[in-house]
Amino acid sequence: MLTTTLASSAAILGLAAGYAIPNTDGFPSPNAEQPLTIETQADGLLSNLPPPPTLSAAGITNFQLIAYNEHYEVAFFTSLIDNITNHVDNYEYVSVNRDEAEIVEILKTVKAQEELHALTATNTLKHFNASLVPEPCTYKFPTTSLEEAIDLASTFTDLVLGTLQDASQSFAKNGDDGPVRAIASVIGQEGEQNGFYRFILSRKPSQKPFLTTSTAAFAFSALQQFIVSCPFDIADIPIPVFPALDVLTPAGPKDMNLTFSADLSASGQYSQGSDLSGLFVTYLVGQQLPISEPITNATWYGGILTFDALFPFTDNVMEGLSIAALTNASNFANADAMPANTLAAPGLIQVQDMSAL
Ligand SMILES: *[C@@H]1O[C@H](CO)[C@@H](O)[C@H](O)[C@H]1NC(C)=O
Ligand SMILES: *[C@@H]1O[C@H](CO)[C@@H](O)[C@H](O)[C@H]1NC(C)=O
Ligand SMILES: *[C@@H]1O[C@H](CO)[C@@H](O)[C@H](O)[C@H]1NC(C)=O
Ligand SMILES: *[C@@H]1O[C@H](CO)[C@@H](O)[C@H](O)[C@H]1NC(C)=O
Ligand SMILES: *[C@@H]1O[C@H](CO)[C@@H](O)[C@H](O)[C@H]1NC(C)=O
Repeated sequence: MLTTTLASSAAILGLAAGYAIPNTDGFPSPNAEQPLTIETQADGLLSNLPPPPTLSAAGITNFQLIAYNEHYEVAFFTSLIDNITNHVDNYEYVSVNRDEAEIVEILKTVKAQEELHALTATNTLKHFNASLVPEPCTYKFPTTSLEEAIDLASTFTDLVLGTLQDASQSFAKNGDDGPVRAIASVIGQEGEQNGFYRFILSRKPSQKPFLTTSTAAFAFSALQQFIVSCPFDIADIPIPVFPALDVLTPAGPKDMNLTFSADLSASGQYSQGSDLSGLFVTYLVGQQLPISEPITNATWYGGILTFDALFPFTDNVMEGLSIAALTNASNFANADAMPANTLAAPGLIQVQDMSAL
């Protein structure tokens, strides 16, 4: 009895505290010598190009989101490496058909590379005296096996690959040509990582001809599910956070109706009895125009709306990642037009073409 009580209060305490990145190599504040240790593990150096002469306010926000995301990634890969090396149940390397030393070495390199991505963002923010330079938060991870963890790593890497497209577009629009080359180098780098995750999950390494785009607001909203607490107010990063859009039906490679749910109780706009005829599920896939499908079968459970919408797989060849949002408009000109009309997002939908493997 006592043991159970202690164990469960420890679990509650553990959950309340969240997972903090252990300080093994000086990250996130390496001293003068430590970057070389991280760079050696990462197989390359931080850029030594001088910073650009100016950075727009939008550019500052882009780097705040990049730092926020990279800190989460460092925490995730550190936890994953710990689980494999500590032989936590279900983290046996055999499940992904790799030798333990090899997979641990690959993941250590990935972790060090993510640390250098994070340091690039925070060093840039410091250089430009940004009012907020995000420090790491504490985190929780939903995964309990090596396969689930690699699968999640692949999905959040997909989301990052879509969001860095948005950051590049924003840098271009705001006259910040300075960071574009470095961001493009990171897009390729994250794509290499994802090819490896996909390959060990028996998926084709290259997912789509044009990777699915995303927006800063969708990435920032998705990251909230992994956050326990942060040493700063996340509202100081000027990006909206939407209620989650849960996808309740596993999607397959065919046209089908999917069921979704979203807690709209904080929206102040929609509740039991509201006219829902102007609501859509809008999908981002590849570099297509956003695809909107009207919602059907809407039911309220308190403030939670459950509804269906068509997943138009066939006409749109929706292999790989599709990003769904509950929107109160349709016919969007592009992904950046969506957040202003989004009520809940993102729903991350993955369909994998395994036919060649
Ligand atoms: C590591 O293992 C713990 C305990 O099982 C688990 O809660 C956590 O999600 C795992 N981390 C990853 C990245 O899978
Ligand atoms: C940041 O603030 C310091 C100290 O006030 C100042 O010397 C420096 O020029 C500022 N940097 C930029 C890029 O504005
Ligand atoms: C989806 O639901 C609509 C409305 O109930 C129905 O007409 C349509 O046939 C369904 N589509 C598929 C692919 O099941
Ligand atoms: C709506 O719900 C009914 C009953 O659950 C179901 O038969 C029908 O397929 C649903 N329609 C859609 C579009 O999913
Ligand atoms: C659509 O939703 C946005 C975001 O919640 C809101 O600002 C806007 O007023 C809504 N528009 C309509 C037509 O309901």
